[in-house]
Amino acid sequence: MHVSVVGSGYVGTTIAACFADLGHEVTSVDIDETVVDAINDGEAPIHEPGLDPLVSVYGGDQLRATTDYDAIADTDVTFLALPTPKHDDGSIDTSIMEAGAESVGEAIADKDDYHLVVVKSTVVPGTTEDTLTPILESASGKTAGEDFGVAVNPEFLREGTAVDDFMEPDKIVVGTDGDGRALDRLAEVYEPLVLQWDVPVFETGRREAEMIKYANNAFLASKVSLINDIGNICKEYGVDAYEVAEAIGLDDRIGERFLRSGVGWGGSCFPKDTAAIIQHARDAGYEPRMLEAAVEVNDRQPERLLDLLDDHVDADGERIAVLGLAFKPGTDDIRNSRAIPVIEGLRERGAEIIAYDPVAASEMAGRFPGIEYAESAAAALDGASGAVVVTDWDEFGTLDEEFDAMADPVVVDGRRIVERREGITYEGLTW
Ligand code: UGA
Repeated sequence: MHVSVVGSGYVGTTIAACFADLGHEVTSVDIDETVVDAINDGEAPIHEPGLDPLVSVYGGDQLRATTDYDAIADTDVTFLALPTPKHDDGSIDTSIMEAGAESVGEAIADKDDYHLVVVKSTVVPGTTEDTLTPILESASGKTAGEDFGVAVNPEFLREGTAVDDFMEPDKIVVGTDGDGRALDRLAEVYEPLVLQWDVPVFETGRREAEMIKYANNAFLASKVSLINDIGNICKEYGVDAYEVAEAIGLDDRIGERFLRSGVGWGGSCFPKDTAAIIQHARDAGYEPRMLEAAVEVNDRQPERLLDLLDDHVDADGERIAVLGLAFKPGTDDIRNSRAIPVIEGLRERGAEIIAYDPVAASEMAGRFPGIEYAESAAAALDGASGAVVVTDWDEFGTLDEEFDAMADPVVVDGRRIVERREGITYEGLTW
């Protein structure tokens, strides 16, 4: 099968490289020539574990990148993996998707064979049918459901483990409203995975598929916020929230995953998707109280971390180390990282900030050029009056000597990676 993928961000590049690995011929389309050149030279344009080896094997060969949308006409199926940023009110901005749909429509206008367009990006329910399909129809002069198909196939990839998540998914959600040709083509695309792992393929409507993606992320984000709320109560009473989480996680109605309390969630997905679905609900006259509370709890966590630091150090004029800048380990992505409000809060307190992250420092330097960046965690801690742990990089778990070398060690741990004086939702060791 010949697959095209429009958009070479973290989702687009990952699925393109993985489709090639499944044996498909793949064409990636992106407007950015540097990204296109990188892929054709066998280099992944983004930092994602496991991606480099795949792009180096397939890039420029079984996986070819181009800036030319016309290449889509020679493929059997096109995945739209373009960004859906948010407006100021939280609602999603589909303008990039709309422009992409228009270009895809134009590219297939003269194609005689059936073509399938698959919406991979996260869009609010109704977008595919009400917005993208009419654009595809008018740009191609064709009729959806007859000359070409439109399906929704959300992704559940996590940054940092996107390749593994793609290769061994929990489920594949396919929204076609029962369109047999669309289903058959998607079945062919995913056949190698389904056969190998016996993955459940969940067939549903397009709107349902769109909503499943939001519900999945809303649920996970709320689960973390709920354990953070419980963790905050635990902290008030000297209860270890991690022991509580471990025990409740044994109840398989709750489950052990996504129960790590701490400084909260960040990234490009949970904040954007919760905001979008909240706004979409409000547009329909419904106030989604649980989701609003999940966001509110999350927004408060960084300040709680700093309040704990305040209990031990007056940060004004003091050197404070920020350990971890990426929104989670395994990525250099700092979008909505909890390190951002933490750094802002420390600046308001007048602290002299020295930050360290194994991969995300240069990204953060673009956002906060005025603070100091250390080459190692040890260098960041050297001479610091206090430290906060914001990202759970494994290497922070082995810093005992470096912490002990601090004059009066105060370490506030936002991720329970170290057993130190203050954990945001647990009591640390005092020494
Ligand atoms: C999330 C979802 O997990 C993916 O299924 C989804 O495909 C993706 O969004 C998306 O919509 O594209 P991602 O944002 O890459 O993936 O990262 P997660 O591993 O879900 O972590 C999100 C945040 O929650 C991180 O800041 C992490 O530190 C935090 N988190 C996670 C906790 O604070 N506690 C936990 O127990 C788990």
